[in-house]
Amino acid sequence: MRRLGYRVLVTGVAGFIGSHLAERLVASGFEVVGLDNFSSGLMENLSSVKNSKNFSLFKGDILNDGDLSKAKDVDAIFHLAAQSSVPKSTEDPCRDFEINVRGTINMLEHARREDVKAFIFASSSTVYGEAKILPTPEDHPLQPISNYGASKAAGEAYCSSYCSLYGIGAVSLRYYNIFGPRCRRGVMFDLMQKLRKDKERLEVLGTGGQEKDYLYIDDAVDATLLVTESGSLKGEAFNVGSGGSCTVRNLVSLLLGELGLDRKVKIAYTGGVSWPGDVQRTQADITKLRGLGFVPKVNLETGIKFFVDWYKKGYGLR
Ligand SMILES: NC(=O)c1ccc[n+]([C@@H]2O[C@H](COP(=O)([O-])OP(=O)(O)OC[C@H]3O[C@@H](n4cnc5c(N)ncnc54)[C@H](O)[C@@H]3O)[C@@H](O)[C@H]2O)c1
Repeated sequence: MRRLGYRVLVTGVAGFIGSHLAERLVASGFEVVGLDNFSSGLMENLSSVKNSKNFSLFKGDILNDGDLSKAKDVDAIFHLAAQSSVPKSTEDPCRDFEINVRGTINMLEHARREDVKAFIFASSSTVYGEAKILPTPEDHPLQPISNYGASKAAGEAYCSSYCSLYGIGAVSLRYYNIFGPRCRRGVMFDLMQKLRKDKERLEVLGTGGQEKDYLYIDDAVDATLLVTESGSLKGEAFNVGSGGSCTVRNLVSLLLGELGLDRKVKIAYTGGVSWPGDVQRTQADITKLRGLGFVPKVNLETGIKFFVDWYKKGYGLR
């Protein structure tokens, strides 16, 4: 990471991935400037870094140039701030566009003004839509089936054009389902919330046959730093996943097993698609990431255990 300099900006720092990334950067000796408007992020996510002398936090919006002007003299930008919900992008496509597309251009403009050398964009596997090839390589066509996926594909396209036009060292990281402590969205969190209310009956969205690639948060942070450090910042994209996949049915069983509730809970699948725009099958081809030395360290079972431990502490499920 030393090739990037010492002062880095993390947008969306109070969110799930942003807070873990900031922790790791501070622990590695970087000076981290964090920006977040706290629309979904939480101050408690930053409890371990907020008092560090190497961390400063600005409450501000990526759409507001006045707020961005506080984040000056940075060597790299990790742009994670986003409207990150697929259902919300269906309800309000213009708001999704505003934050995810215009917000990303705004950050790229900030990078241009500030002569920032590295721009790391948090993209998503949703850019592929229902991929025709599994595991899916990066050169697979992008055919998003959600507005969220479309907004991420547009963000990637701007990273590429800014790289080519203005020489900004940009890279797009196509995160798959990242999970772990502080993840307050997605299937695992949803199931835990339901179980907290009722341990006898569990409603699961969809058929249970949805099959997805889950990557533990520490591995996602490893991958993020590995790509950044590699210097492969030429406007291209990297898949960030485990390379494996698991059905929701299997995930439910692993989660219940970890909670000691298997066989005690009556499971009811709603059938159909969980929500409009939800991709049914994902699996990353991580050959490109492996080429940089990436090896996922935390398997799904262990990751679920860490997630459940965190959830129990914070939300009190017994
Ligand atoms: N978590 C995943 O599995 C996953 C998968 C694919 C892509 N991603 C992408 O990775 C990034 C981080 O994801 P996450 O799970 O940590 O999401 P998150 O929702 O937890 O974090 C996003 C953060 O951005 C902040 N934010 C939103 N709008 C903002 C604005 N206008 N100005 C400033 N801050 C703003 C929110 O308050 C929040 O703290 C996002 O770009 C997301 O789309 C995440």
